[in-house]
Amino acid sequence: MTETPQLGSFVRELTIAEVIDETADAKSIVFDIPAGSEEDFRYTPGQFLTLRIPSEQTGSVARCYSLSSSPTDDTQLKVTVKRTVGGYGSNWVCDNAEPGMNMHVLAPSGIFTPKNLDQDFILLAAGSGITPVMSILRSALAQGTGHIVMLYANRNEDAVIFKQQLRDLQQAHPDRLTVIHWLESVSGLPTAEIIGNILQPVARKRHSYICGPAPFMETVKAGLRRSGADMHLIHTEVFSSIEGDPFAEIIIDDTPAEEGGEGPAKATVELDDQTHEIDWPRNTPLLDVLLSKGIKAPFSCRKGECSACACILKSGEAEMIHNGILDPEEVEEGYVLGCQLLPKSDHVEISYND
Ligand code: FES
Repeated sequence: MTETPQLGSFVRELTIAEVIDETADAKSIVFDIPAGSEEDFRYTPGQFLTLRIPSEQTGSVARCYSLSSSPTDDTQLKVTVKRTVGGYGSNWVCDNAEPGMNMHVLAPSGIFTPKNLDQDFILLAAGSGITPVMSILRSALAQGTGHIVMLYANRNEDAVIFKQQLRDLQQAHPDRLTVIHWLESVSGLPTAEIIGNILQPVARKRHSYICGPAPFMETVKAGLRRSGADMHLIHTEVFSSIEGDPFAEIIIDDTPAEEGGEGPAKATVELDDQTHEIDWPRNTPLLDVLLSKGIKAPFSCRKGECSACACILKSGEAEMIHNGILDPEEVEEGYVLGCQLLPKSDHVEISYND
């Protein structure tokens, strides 16, 4: 057995209220939000929870699961998990999760979330990729007035998660929602040409949200391109596995960057409705500094691989130790990863709000 490292003060605990069998290999895990902790678990549709899953080999592993609940309609948190072949985390959850069990989690995070729910959408999901899309769909139907086209791909009918809920939503919103089920058992794999033809009448000005296996995402992106969609309006959710331990306590390195070098830089950080003025030790990533001061900045992997900590560099100079997720366009727009960011000038201005 591996020794359990000290958990960070930012780690939260949730109790499982219910486990729902969605399909033969997918379950929803419903968590109660402890009274008084509502603020810690505030989320926007499309975000995910990071769960700490016990492991005999490493002590624990961290896995991100999208929230399928809607912050507008639900008082509990729900993640939906589908078994994957050889997937330690998903199989552990499906085999072991039961009501009454406590689990350590990180606060919800993620940037696969619409800024405005009151618009027309295209939602594209395959398999368990439905989970964040379901949260966006239900929230947009409840809060917005726009029209939504959703295409949901699965191997066969038995694999369709939320089948009845989707039927009910379509019946409740016949003028606002069109759901297209794509079954591989009936129609084969979707192609970019077919997707392009299906989406062509609606693609031009809508934001599209895509979640599913990589080949599906590539196909539907190519389909959107063919249909004339603005590629800047396409949003994808990519989960990479988390290798490190994002639950471990933060260690602040406040030694000067070089011998005889300067003291900490100054940072102005906009987060939610507040502006924080902080000292930023030059060898410590911004996220670690914020968490050590009790400032609830978003994060998940702490390794530069998930983008949950993405923020905007508004002024000054800073450099990422590692960037495994932001594409060149995002970096050009000023996005940086808080968990990997070190200051390179004496004053740096950062915003998590844009
Ligand atoms: Fe995952 Fe920063 S927390 S990239």
